[in-house]
Amino acid sequence: MEMAEIGKTSENGVTRAALSKEDGQARDLLCEWAKPLVDQMLVDEVGNMFFIKKGANPNLPLVLSGSHLDTQYHGGRFDGVYGVLGVLEVLKTLHENQIVPDHGLGLVNWSNEEEARYCPAMGSAVFSGKLTPRQVLDCEASDGPTYGISLKDIGYNGEKITPSLKVKAYLELHIEQGPVLENEHLDIGLVTGAQGQLTMDVTIRGEAGHAGTVPMEMRADALSCAAEIISQCRSKVLKMDQGVMTVGKMEVEPNSRSTIPSNVVFGMDIRNPNTQSLEELKNQFITEIASISQKHHCSEDIVIRSFKAPTEFDEICINVVESSAKKLKYGLRRMRSGAFHDACMINAIIPTGMIFTPCLKGVSHHPSEFASQGQIFRGANTLLHSLLELSQKEKVRP
Ligand code: GLV
Ligand code: MN
Ligand code: MN
Repeated sequence: MEMAEIGKTSENGVTRAALSKEDGQARDLLCEWAKPLVDQMLVDEVGNMFFIKKGANPNLPLVLSGSHLDTQYHGGRFDGVYGVLGVLEVLKTLHENQIVPDHGLGLVNWSNEEEARYCPAMGSAVFSGKLTPRQVLDCEASDGPTYGISLKDIGYNGEKITPSLKVKAYLELHIEQGPVLENEHLDIGLVTGAQGQLTMDVTIRGEAGHAGTVPMEMRADALSCAAEIISQCRSKVLKMDQGVMTVGKMEVEPNSRSTIPSNVVFGMDIRNPNTQSLEELKNQFITEIASISQKHHCSEDIVIRSFKAPTEFDEICINVVESSAKKLKYGLRRMRSGAFHDACMINAIIPTGMIFTPCLKGVSHHPSEFASQGQIFRGANTLLHSLLELSQKEKVRP
């Protein structure tokens, strides 16, 4: 709740956009809390922060865990920050009980998980080799300077740390952001994988004109065109047996009631658990957008922002979380994530697993996002036992 004061908005929400002044303050507070508990802190070139507690055998690779401190605009208090402070609590518990596992333990705060301000530019995408540091540092914001300039401004521009940082396994604790666990009165979700995500920005260019004088058939109305595109694309998604689509952002020019809109830019977010379906939708949407634009005498421009393939997490990590939650007598089930996470990036290079906990009515990316102390506790306790198990086991993926 103290962290949620940074970037606090009305109705208990949080706006802590990546690399904003508030993100910088949240990182400073994390340093204040985490540094006394660890032996070393590292910051990489895109601002990912690692707090490392050495193990009994310093030659063994680390077990890493964390999530992100950035939020969506008008986001909630739990998405991301829970997975960071959960590890902080684990480090504290080990410290208080003087437990030193064989493997070291790392807490990580990944930069810009939400990609609300910079896209594509996830810090975890750089760590996993999917994006280069240069691509991320040069990424333009929706509301200000480049990633590189903003990162410098908050003082978290570090140095290359890979491949010197050796990691054995990665776990991420997160609220479910959906209603399944709450509905089934369960404590823990064993996350087996996550659906893929395609994001794109579409610009429709028409022609401004007087709302009273230009006959309907002579108009190039960019907003009517966009409305038909959204409706047709939505129908295509509904025809598939799974997957979702959202248009959550739109800019209209000149944005005046009695003027025909000349320019519309909107952002689309399309998700599906099947890579082929996601590819198919992408191609269908591109064709659909072109043909509807032509019908409306408009022109179109499409920028694919990101394409993230669906994820299957590591079976051994899933089993470790399962046995920890069972040992603690928590109610649990296997489930897939509807949201994307840093864990999905890291899974490409390191055996990875995720722990979900319920949240109120499944609401997330919203100020009313909430999880009770009991729910938070049981997730962190499962994380503690899972990390302990992993930091003693010799091997994860052969
Ligand atoms: C992450 O926040 C997502 O939108 O999946
Ligand atoms: Mn998140
Ligand atoms: Mn999020």
